Amino acid sequence: MTVYGVGLGPGEADLVTVRGKRVLDAVDTVYSPGRLSRSVAREYVPESALGDLDFPMTRDPEQLRTAWRTAADVVADAAADGDVAFVTLGDPNVYSTFGHLRRTLSAFHPGVDVEVVPGVSAVTAFATALGVEIEAGTGLSLREAADGAAPTGPDRMILFKVTDAVATDEKLTAAGYDVRYGRRLFMEQGETVVTSDPTDVAERDYYTLAYAEKRGIERDLATAEFDDAGTERSA
Ligand SMILES: C[S@@+](CC[C@H](N)C(=O)[O-])C[C@H]1O[C@@H](n2cnc3c(N)ncnc32)[C@H](O)[C@@H]1O
Repeated sequence: MTVYGVGLGPGEADLVTVRGKRVLDAVDTVYSPGRLSRSVAREYVPESALGDLDFPMTRDPEQLRTAWRTAADVVADAAADGDVAFVTLGDPNVYSTFGHLRRTLSAFHPGVDVEVVPGVSAVTAFATALGVEIEAGTGLSLREAADGAAPTGPDRMILFKVTDAVATDEKLTAAGYDVRYGRRLFMEQGETVVTSDPTDVAERDYYTLAYAEKRGIERDLATAEFDDAGTERSA
């Protein structure tokens, strides 16, 4: 039997993919690592099909290893009798708890088949939510910026885990970046915020990201000179 890692997308239930929904309909048990992913899954599966896994709120590697070992045992047990899904927000292979499960299963239950159903990741959903276009020919780097961190270097960066937006903003602005923030994008729970003012997202909320772009980068696009009225500015 198979363990499916199913990406649920950023949080609105209708952004679950058709394939993701099909798998959730078909499996016997659905496990989730947290409250938000559980509530999205709940839109597609009855409460009775949701399994329980216990994840401690800790960064202690020993406690985490033990918790994942137990979780993998539970999931492998269930997969002996039927197909199961482990759901995560976004995509299961992008900064996701699913990686821990996959590694632990592969170490202790190598006979269990694992398949991944990709999901709409915040890495791509941010662009629509923040009104950003990543043009062909340009680069985009993914970084973490927790606790006021401010990585620099690339022209364009998406920053996850922005937990002190004000401190991050100060440093990035000084380093020559324009920054926009997105909180709880395409999410049913909590308030969605899109802003360039870091004080709007000063309160700590894990589901906050930022897009940072170096000021003054060149745009070499055939259509860049058209304005919204359809006239060619340079004509
Ligand atoms: C551990 S990563 C998980 C990423 C997820 N697997 C994905 O593919 O989108 C969590 C970080 O992603 C960002 N994030 C995920 N979903 C988000 C959303 N709906 N709105 C804003 N930020 C989000 C936040 O920066 C958060 O701290």
